[in-house]
Amino acid sequence: MSDDRIVTAARVDEDVPYEAGLRPRTLDDYIGQDRVRENLHVSIEAARQRGEALDHVLLYGPPGLGKTTLAYVIANELGVPIRSTAGPVIEKPGDLAAMLTNLQAREVLFIDEVHRMSPAIEEILYPAMEDYELDIVIGQGPSARSVKVPVRRFTLIGATTRTGLLTSPLRSRFGIVHRLDFYSDDNILEIVQRSARIIGVPIDLDAAHEIARRARGTPRVANRLLRRVRDYAQVRANGHITLDVAHRALRLLEVDELGFDEIDRRLLRTIIEKFGGGPVGVASLAAAMSEERDAIEDIYEPFLIQIGFLDRTPRGRVATARAYEYFGLSAPGKDRLW
Ligand SMILES: Nc1ncnc2c1ncn2[C@@H]1O[C@H](COP(=O)(O)OP(=O)(O)OP(=O)(O)O)[C@@H](O)[C@H]1O
Ligand SMILES: [Mg+2]
Repeated sequence: MSDDRIVTAARVDEDVPYEAGLRPRTLDDYIGQDRVRENLHVSIEAARQRGEALDHVLLYGPPGLGKTTLAYVIANELGVPIRSTAGPVIEKPGDLAAMLTNLQAREVLFIDEVHRMSPAIEEILYPAMEDYELDIVIGQGPSARSVKVPVRRFTLIGATTRTGLLTSPLRSRFGIVHRLDFYSDDNILEIVQRSARIIGVPIDLDAAHEIARRARGTPRVANRLLRRVRDYAQVRANGHITLDVAHRALRLLEVDELGFDEIDRRLLRTIIEKFGGGPVGVASLAAAMSEERDAIEDIYEPFLIQIGFLDRTPRGRVATARAYEYFGLSAPGKDRLW
């Protein structure tokens, strides 16, 4: 899958060392997502006042919007340690059982990609989440017996880009469920300015605006563009990011006005040229583009849908009139009688 593109929302290796330093640590530092923040503030404060563990929290939404960041913020606000793992990493039920029994009261267990646990692992989680106990089977064959092992009252925070792939027994065990949305340009502007301050690069307001506008409403993309523009400013200018420097850098990076790159254009063009504008099923689209279906659904599509270039209908994906306009084409059906 083409994750080397500059505007991908997926995390790439070069983001790793850089993201840690830019992560907000408190709810106040966490920019945007106001409704989610306000709700969490109330839930956290209530749990703290009662001295109880926070209800289990499910965070979902497209990549790069701040789910992992928020999980760490929640633990920090609760004043408890956070243990972190990921669905595909947990191999044996025993691994998860060990993690759960090691948790102290009110601690947070963060499971990233929580939709990618095997059924055997999920089975361990159900009674742990609901009744704070594990059902462990000891021995094999006719002498096997099940024992119940208590775990302390902990908080599970699960993150996923694909809530649709979560099994319903798992989903129903989360008392607090929040969806993260793409950020407004104003919020992204704030994030660009905050990050510039932290990495110590001077940036003009109009330049920060320019980067923000092309960041696809995604903090991870904003931070990555900022980093690349900073490189450009350092090598081709005097280190200060002016609007002119930003323009030149972004042109060199081939990020257009909407934050589109080659893959976005190819996706839309494929629907328009090979499938008459759609509807086309995601599997056919993936095959025609030689991309993975998951990548299309998780990474490329959500933003195109958000800005109204793509519709997801029961019969498949449809390029909208705005998508046609973007390429200077006129949409079919405009002259049709509906
Ligand atoms: N609300 C925010 N305010 C400021 N910066 C943010 C915010 N949300 C995210 N970021 C920045 O964006 C980066 C990516 O966020 P994060 O890793 O939490 O995304 P994610 O939703 O977990 O992505 P993925 O689905 O790929 O795991 C973080 O390192 C952080 O610097
Ligand atoms: Mg994450």
